[in-house]
Amino acid sequence: MTGKKHCLFIIFGATGDLAKRKLYPSLFRLYKKKELHKYFAVIGTARRPWTNDFYRQVVIESISGLVENEGQAAHFASHFYYQSHDVGDTEHYITLKKLGEKLKETYQTNDNQIFYLAMAPQFFGRIVSHLKSQHILTEKGFERLIIEKPFGSNLKTATALNKEITESFPEKDIFRIDHYLGKEMIQNISAVRFGNLVFEALWNKEYISNVQITFAESIGVENRTEYYENSGALRDMVQNHILQVISLLAMEAPKCFEEKEIRQEKVKALKAIRQYSEKEALKNFIPGQYIAGDFDGKHFLGYREESGVAESSTIETFVAGKFFIDNKRWWGVPFYVRTGKRLTEKGTRINIIFKKVPENLFNEQNNRIALPNVLTIYIQPTEGFSLLLNGKEVGKGFKLAPLKLQYRHDATVLSNSPEAYEKLILDVLNGERANFSQWDEVESSWELIDVIRSSWDKNLQEIPKYKVYTMGPYEAFELLEEDGCYWEWRPDEWYIQRGKL
Ligand code: BG6
Repeated sequence: MTGKKHCLFIIFGATGDLAKRKLYPSLFRLYKKKELHKYFAVIGTARRPWTNDFYRQVVIESISGLVENEGQAAHFASHFYYQSHDVGDTEHYITLKKLGEKLKETYQTNDNQIFYLAMAPQFFGRIVSHLKSQHILTEKGFERLIIEKPFGSNLKTATALNKEITESFPEKDIFRIDHYLGKEMIQNISAVRFGNLVFEALWNKEYISNVQITFAESIGVENRTEYYENSGALRDMVQNHILQVISLLAMEAPKCFEEKEIRQEKVKALKAIRQYSEKEALKNFIPGQYIAGDFDGKHFLGYREESGVAESSTIETFVAGKFFIDNKRWWGVPFYVRTGKRLTEKGTRINIIFKKVPENLFNEQNNRIALPNVLTIYIQPTEGFSLLLNGKEVGKGFKLAPLKLQYRHDATVLSNSPEAYEKLILDVLNGERANFSQWDEVESSWELIDVIRSSWDKNLQEIPKYKVYTMGPYEAFELLEEDGCYWEWRPDEWYIQRGKL
């Protein structure tokens, strides 16, 4: 695909955090790489009455760590225009249209338009219907819509939202962001699986004992309590990011690496995930909420004490659970998942735990223990792989010792991995849809999540608690122990041994 696309971007929510932290820096990176060059313009809209100059200053500040010189920053920012806007006021769309038409001429954008909705989903419907009714959509160039999560809060609201949006944009022009799909190592899952016969041949229930997916965060809910109180970890992380990762790990090989083929296989995998009854969901999914505690000499508040959180909030800041995929490849293999705030360390990783070798050669009696092989995919903050093998302990006698083959680097230090948003925006410019969630995927994942949520809402007397900077409530460990398994990654032990936790 060629770069240097001609395009007008219209960003709704231009004064927000996401725009400043992710969108402007990503657009700038694309500009530096000449993927965006002369022929692009950005209209930022939001309620605040900013001027173009003020807006450009904000854009310049947001890219301050990336610029080579002031002239470059100013030139980039000169492509940005601000339009104060009330999403419900038709008049404002008329002004927006006029500004868009002017910029189309100045920057020769060839009628291509990308609309980025970086704001709360309750406004999506109103915005897209105005884009259509006020003829901002002209069908002359490409017209693509980027939307941020959450896409609904359950199947019912997601379906209603989808109906509203598809009245103005066809599914092929809707790009639902799941920023994990833009991460280097998530995209690498398919390379590891399908590019290496040693793994692909073993990628099934005969050789894999269980799969563990951990999305741990050490930060708390920060200034997002309003959103989080209505969401919780299950909707915030499992419905989208974690289920997407499961579908990539579990899917069958697509016929070729084209968007349609990949998506078909991902959806099949999602649909094969066992739909629990409420009773089963309650047994297999554990919520948790962090309580105050000390870590490394500092005191941290519990979730209920954070400002903006209800004193009796039952919102989960942690979830651990077990999915099964009822197909020939995966029958009986648990896919354990866990995610949470204020866990010991920031770390996103996948552990594929292989089955043990038969015990006639190596067993506890002869003091020769072979550990199960473990393939780990490190997603962040380091990127890479490791493979745990058994070798012979050096010296006399014949004992086994674990050895780890590993290739890992810190993505930020080497800065060789493009920012997820940068990749995703470029995909939208190029019309490539493989790294976005499609409606059928969203629909399937809400079906799974709704049951878990309602099983908690109806039955849970007390939400399990965990102390800040630990790896979740006791029940999350029990979940695996009951199956004779344990979480492979236990960063908390490192801190406990050193008296920091
Ligand atoms: C977002 C969630 O989707 O992902 C946040 O809403 C979470 O709660 C974030 O902190 C984590 O993303 P990353 O890229 O920092 O792992």
